[in-house]
Amino acid sequence: MADKQNSHSTPPPHPLDAMHPKSFDVPCILVIFGGAGDLSHRKLLPALYNLALENELPKEFAIVGFSIEKLDDDAYRDFARSGIEKFSRQKLTDEGWSKFAPRLHFVSGSFTEARDYLNLRERLDALDREIGAKGNRIFYFAIPPAFIDDCSGNLSAAGMISAPDGNGGFTRVVVEKPVGHDLASAIEINSELAKHFDESQIFRIDHYLGKETVENLMVLRFANAIFEPIWSARFIDHVQITVAEQEGVGTRAAYYDHAGALRDMVQSHILQVLCMIASEPPRSTHADAVRDSKLDVIRSLRTFEAGDVERWTVRGQYVEGLSGGEKVPGYCEEPHIEPDSKIETFVALKCYVENWRWAGVPFYLRTGKRLPKRASEIDIFFKAVPRILYNARPAAQLAPNVLAIRIQPDEGLALKIISKVPGQTLRLTPVDVDFHYKTASPEAYETLLSDVIVGDQTLFMRRDAVEAAWRFVQPILDEWDRSAEEPIPYSAGSWGPTESALMLARDGRAWRNP
Ligand code: BG6
Repeated sequence: MADKQNSHSTPPPHPLDAMHPKSFDVPCILVIFGGAGDLSHRKLLPALYNLALENELPKEFAIVGFSIEKLDDDAYRDFARSGIEKFSRQKLTDEGWSKFAPRLHFVSGSFTEARDYLNLRERLDALDREIGAKGNRIFYFAIPPAFIDDCSGNLSAAGMISAPDGNGGFTRVVVEKPVGHDLASAIEINSELAKHFDESQIFRIDHYLGKETVENLMVLRFANAIFEPIWSARFIDHVQITVAEQEGVGTRAAYYDHAGALRDMVQSHILQVLCMIASEPPRSTHADAVRDSKLDVIRSLRTFEAGDVERWTVRGQYVEGLSGGEKVPGYCEEPHIEPDSKIETFVALKCYVENWRWAGVPFYLRTGKRLPKRASEIDIFFKAVPRILYNARPAAQLAPNVLAIRIQPDEGLALKIISKVPGQTLRLTPVDVDFHYKTASPEAYETLLSDVIVGDQTLFMRRDAVEAAWRFVQPILDEWDRSAEEPIPYSAGSWGPTESALMLARDGRAWRNP
């Protein structure tokens, strides 16, 4: 009888819901270092607001901004409100704001002053007594990498970092990219973090991993029977990954003019996407199982020799041109950019994953600023059907099947297949089987912040993966440094230097522009 009543009041969970139940019942305080900075304003506070709207924040939860600005709680709330008004996915409402605002607090302090951390600690302890956060702390480092050592050391000296299995509540630290400027500096930053935190406490953000379509790549591959049998060199001719941006360098000149497209996009986002496409099925959905299989991919990438860099990479820099119909300046004329800057705003490269599954299959990667549109896409080109039957005429070869996975915008996928044109004559034409997600996906930062709160590291970069990715790009950076060549100019609003198209043309292939 009791069973029957229960089954009426609570419907049984759907078997798929049970795979990764997210419990938001995790009391904690999130401290944002750089709480009054740009990232907080544009991304973090709006993302947290959206989580609050969706009731996806713990009940006992507070946000504390920590940085040098002299703000009180009210002024910080005004700062957050203006960020939410401008950048939030969902509109700011009075009801939503009244739920969210009381959770916001601010502590003014310097990242390098030990005594400011004692003050921070006092405020956190008092807040904890008020809301019952059980000593659980998340420290979000939305700060330049140069401060990571100071912040970690000061937190440690103030006794604010508990042992990974400690009883005094958990400590987690979130680290923003870039983790390093090259391999050596990445190792240095990771070693500084490791002095104070256990790897299980470190959440290195790559916001591409929080994008719904990127997360969905694993589901697409491993929850459907039709893809895995054809997902290899036997059936796939080559893979293209394009991450195109229409915007120029924007307000991030100081950072970008020392980074460039290879460091900024390829070392992190694009290699992560490549891993999702090329990895072996992980042994489980456990965070380390997924990250182990991705790491294998990065470690299998063929190392670039000097000659490969010249043949298989193209770097460009945008010059004046038309973007969205408007005249825009070249990179070197942008505010705060060195007028003779050699930094690349476009990179295209060809690489190989040297394992049995992918032997001989080129992966072409490209990214750039001031390209014709904002569009990120993965295109899987399948091998041609045999040159018989419908594909027998050399002069009219059939277009290959292509699976195009759109990461953004217009998330979805299209499969290009060959079909008959209706009518009495036999004519063939490519058509798209097209699927659009058309749902309001959460922003990447919403997903990632929520994962930090619940303690799921699956979508975060492990130390070994970050360093392996640097190991792959380092020979390219070194060779570019050594050679006297400069980035090739391309007009803003174009698809990059023609050399990028030529690199594929030499292989008898062409970029598919999203
Ligand atoms: C950041 C890069 O990580 O990603 C930026 O530093 C880039 O240069 C941005 O513009 C692109 O992100 P998204 O989500 O707009 O594709």
